[in-house]
Amino acid sequence: MTVRVGMIGAGAIADDHCTSVSKYPGAELVAVSDISRQRRETVRQKYNMARAYEKWQDLVADPGVDAVMIALPNALHAPVSVAALKAGKHVLLEKPFALNYGEAKRVADTARKMRKVFMLGMNLRFWPEVQSLRTIVQRGDLGDVYHAKAYWYRRTGSPKMGTWFVNKKLAGGGCMLDIGVHFLDLALYITDNWKPACVSGQVYTKFGNRGIGEGCWGKSDRDPKLKFDVDDFATGLVKFQNGMTLELNVSWVLHQEQENRNNIQLYGTEAGADLIPMKVFRSGKNAGEYEVVKPENVRIPHRYENRQANWLDAILGKDKPICTVAQALVVQKILDGIYQSSASGKEVRIR
Ligand SMILES: NC(=O)c1ccc[n+]([C@@H]2O[C@H](COP(=O)([O-])OP(=O)(O)OC[C@H]3O[C@@H](n4cnc5c(N)ncnc54)[C@H](O)[C@@H]3O)[C@@H](O)[C@H]2O)c1
Repeated sequence: MTVRVGMIGAGAIADDHCTSVSKYPGAELVAVSDISRQRRETVRQKYNMARAYEKWQDLVADPGVDAVMIALPNALHAPVSVAALKAGKHVLLEKPFALNYGEAKRVADTARKMRKVFMLGMNLRFWPEVQSLRTIVQRGDLGDVYHAKAYWYRRTGSPKMGTWFVNKKLAGGGCMLDIGVHFLDLALYITDNWKPACVSGQVYTKFGNRGIGEGCWGKSDRDPKLKFDVDDFATGLVKFQNGMTLELNVSWVLHQEQENRNNIQLYGTEAGADLIPMKVFRSGKNAGEYEVVKPENVRIPHRYENRQANWLDAILGKDKPICTVAQALVVQKILDGIYQSSASGKEVRIR
């Protein structure tokens, strides 16, 4: 069977999706949708697709489409996913899952009811370093991991001003939802800890509201009416049921020496580790010695180069999604908790 795939949203990240699908032997790109005629036609022609729609509803109703990839403004993630699942399509959805947990849960429930493959496209999980670090943590090289630090600081990395990305109604949040989601997800995935207990957080808007810090991301058209009213710096502390703590810091804009700085740092009872570049820190064999090693010959437990291949394999019954719906829901609960804690000034319990 060939999976006939549709692309909903022909913006900046659409190429990543279409390129991967075009390399997968059991799939065919058949249709694209975007409100921008220029962007949908560019993608249609580049990937030799048969049909291009202005309205996503028309693509979702297309009987010649088995599965859709959704790369739209965040506010459309849940409604379009639910509509596509109800129309019997499998879905690969861009991060973040939704504007909030309630919306995400509705998508999850619809996917279960319709018995379709729904996967959140957490692409960084497929990095070989992430897979390697996860493997050595899971086999116990670090001992008991009691603390993790995850950060992604961009200096001048706000998406295009005046686009949906920087507007709360359309995006749901700023840097925490946009890139914090990636490193939060990785920290949980690497430590395989999906049981948060509570979260405390604070979000800030310090630059974008003054028109400072635009990077280059996003192809959507600017709309002067769209105000910057989301976070460009955010911090969170998550406590887990097993006692582990996670410190998460994220910025789109920040005064710092480098343009971009990100990492996940793990602290365990037997060793510590960094993700970027991947290194392990531990006591040496002899008393007083300390060593920094790059683990070698770590077997990566899957063969995927990208998320789309994993999703397509799952549709064809050859494998399961590496990012499960249950895991994606936990990440969304923590993100909600960070924003709730920031608004209320209180720690938020997660159930
Ligand atoms: N996984 C990653 O690393 C990664 C990277 C970038 C973006 N993303 C996510 O992908 C999504 C899209 O991001 P992007 O950078 O491509 O944004 P973008 O602004 O470049 O593209 C969004 C596209 O959606 C179209 N659109 C808006 N409303 C529409 C509608 N009602 N019907 C059809 N099309 C519509 C716009 O015209 C635009 O072309 C976002 O949710 C973002 O968070 C993920």
